[in-house]
Amino acid sequence: MRAARQAGRMNEHTTHTTTEITTADAGFTGRVVLVTGGTSGIGFATARLLLARGARVVITGRTEERLRRAADRLADVSDGGARLLTVRADAADLSDTERLMDRIRESYGRLDGLFANAGVGVFERLESTTEADFDRLVDVNVKGVFFTVQRALPLLEAAGPGASVVINASWTLHRAMEVAPMYAATKAAVHNLARSLSAGLADRGIRVNSVSPGYIHTEMYDEIITEEAAREATRVAPPLQRVGSSEDVGEAVSFLLSERASYITGQDLAVDGGLVMKVPG
Ligand SMILES: NC(=O)c1ccc[n+]([C@@H]2O[C@H](COP(=O)([O-])OP(=O)(O)OC[C@H]3O[C@@H](n4cnc5c(N)ncnc54)[C@H](OP(=O)(O)O)[C@@H]3O)[C@@H](O)[C@H]2O)c1
Repeated sequence: MRAARQAGRMNEHTTHTTTEITTADAGFTGRVVLVTGGTSGIGFATARLLLARGARVVITGRTEERLRRAADRLADVSDGGARLLTVRADAADLSDTERLMDRIRESYGRLDGLFANAGVGVFERLESTTEADFDRLVDVNVKGVFFTVQRALPLLEAAGPGASVVINASWTLHRAMEVAPMYAATKAAVHNLARSLSAGLADRGIRVNSVSPGYIHTEMYDEIITEEAAREATRVAPPLQRVGSSEDVGEAVSFLLSERASYITGQDLAVDGGLVMKVPG
């Protein structure tokens, strides 16, 4: 967590334990929710919260091994795995996405919630971004999200009015980001997608929102926060003065997926300790 160390003023992130997870959202009992990219970080924490609140959860990832490890770590909140379905699916691969939806249709016949979370962080400046970097970012972060929602639509409609989609964007969509312009652009793209979809799907009773996590301590954060980005983190440090936890974001996603958010659609919810609203300086 180089950024946090350099920032100095940020405190260590906090992490929920199983016993701390509130079961207030008991409305999830019996609901079926897909979390793409659920093997680690924000997706994993969200899956854990939803399982603890009674949902049946489907998680995806690119390898069986990481899915198996995640399933082991979720056994205590999923009735020993009975309420958890793991499906190996690369979000950038349309045939994988179709196979994923087939599995969900066979197992549950519907989707009450979708958290389109799978994403990659390729942090390169304009000059150093290769065509391969560009394609990877767009394939996973934009194409993956678009076709996940498109292919999930019949299952969301099958759930009846009240289905909810949350797309994982990023605080970077709200700010100029010279160290990672294409990453930031993919997140702006999916936020705008959430808005357009929310308008288009409202008459079917499907809500669509995005979340914009700030600096969140996850595997991606540890991998991509460069010295340069860490300096930037220090400069625009969040007023709440800590790096966020995956559970901080999971709580917001859980709320947006729940019926408690039934009058909220087309919005972006920043979960960033106040990062984007603060004037840098
Ligand atoms: N951490 C932050 O500070 C932060 C801030 C803003 C936004 N975000 C966004 O949050 C989301 C989750 O990131 P994270 O920070 O939680 O990182 P993470 O711990 O690295 O998790 C990424 C997840 O996405 C999955 N994934 C990656 N590529 C995939 C693909 N092609 N198909 C299916 N699954 C894929 C990974 O699974 P496998 O590796 O097992 O395939 C993993 O479960 C991303 O969209 C990211 O852009 C993160």
